[in-house]
Amino acid sequence: MPGKNIEYKTKQISEYFSINRVKWDQFYPSEKWIFERVAGAEGQMGSVLDVGCATGGLGLALGERFSLTEYVGVDINAPAIDYANTGRTKYSCPCDFLCGDILTVDSLPADKFDNVFSLSCADWNIATEDIISECWKYVRVGGHFILTLRLTPQQSLLRFSESFQYIYFGEGMPKNEEEVEKAPYIVLNVQHALAILANLQPKPDHIMAYGYWGPPSPTARTTYDRLVFTALAVRKGNNDGKDIPGEFHLPVDLFLQE
Ligand SMILES: C[S@@+](CC[C@H](N)C(=O)[O-])C[C@H]1O[C@@H](n2cnc3c(N)ncnc32)[C@H](O)[C@@H]1O
Repeated sequence: MPGKNIEYKTKQISEYFSINRVKWDQFYPSEKWIFERVAGAEGQMGSVLDVGCATGGLGLALGERFSLTEYVGVDINAPAIDYANTGRTKYSCPCDFLCGDILTVDSLPADKFDNVFSLSCADWNIATEDIISECWKYVRVGGHFILTLRLTPQQSLLRFSESFQYIYFGEGMPKNEEEVEKAPYIVLNVQHALAILANLQPKPDHIMAYGYWGPPSPTARTTYDRLVFTALAVRKGNNDGKDIPGEFHLPVDLFLQE
């Protein structure tokens, strides 16, 4: 059983995300590829639930490019949600922000959202699998769960002791390292990750992924020196127990034992 999620208190999150990842051009190519595919030729993003929204930059970035009917952000970090609430008039659609752990927030309707996002959220706290299945609960039938994961052909890194990240976005590291808050830096074996997604209930009817190798974040203390940074879209459909078709734009050596 995973432990309780960490309630991050640091102001580093609101300071960094209030100016980073607020514009389309500040998102990764893997994310933009997945977003474009989900929105389709008509550019419809519909109603969006952003789990781990920080200051809500995703809603602004998506609004530059696509049509949204609603943007709801949830974050466990109070300063980030306070900041998001100050910028409500900047959105192209009605918006709302909730502060709390997605596992305990109880005011959101299940099976409702066209697109539920977890960008660097499920793998940035203790109960990664629970966060993934909770996000899935909020996707309407026919909608997508869009998430990012760090993948490896080697063993998953689930323990804080073997993989964590300092929540510090400045240059280098501060002198008082021990006072900086830390987040788990979860890394998943590719087959482990696909099994988690394929076993979601109800079973998905399509999975897309786009990813590429890169070095871990400079503030991460982790075991592997390269990871496949991957954006995925998992569609909730009426699968009826059939095989799940996949579309994977991933380096082949991710599937080879190192
Ligand atoms: C690395 S930041 C990513 C922010 C944003 N999604 C992005 O990609 O730009 C991770 C965010 O997830 C939030 N978070 C982590 N665990 C959470 C949980 N269980 N419920 C809600 N938010 C969570 C953190 O507070 C933080 O703001």
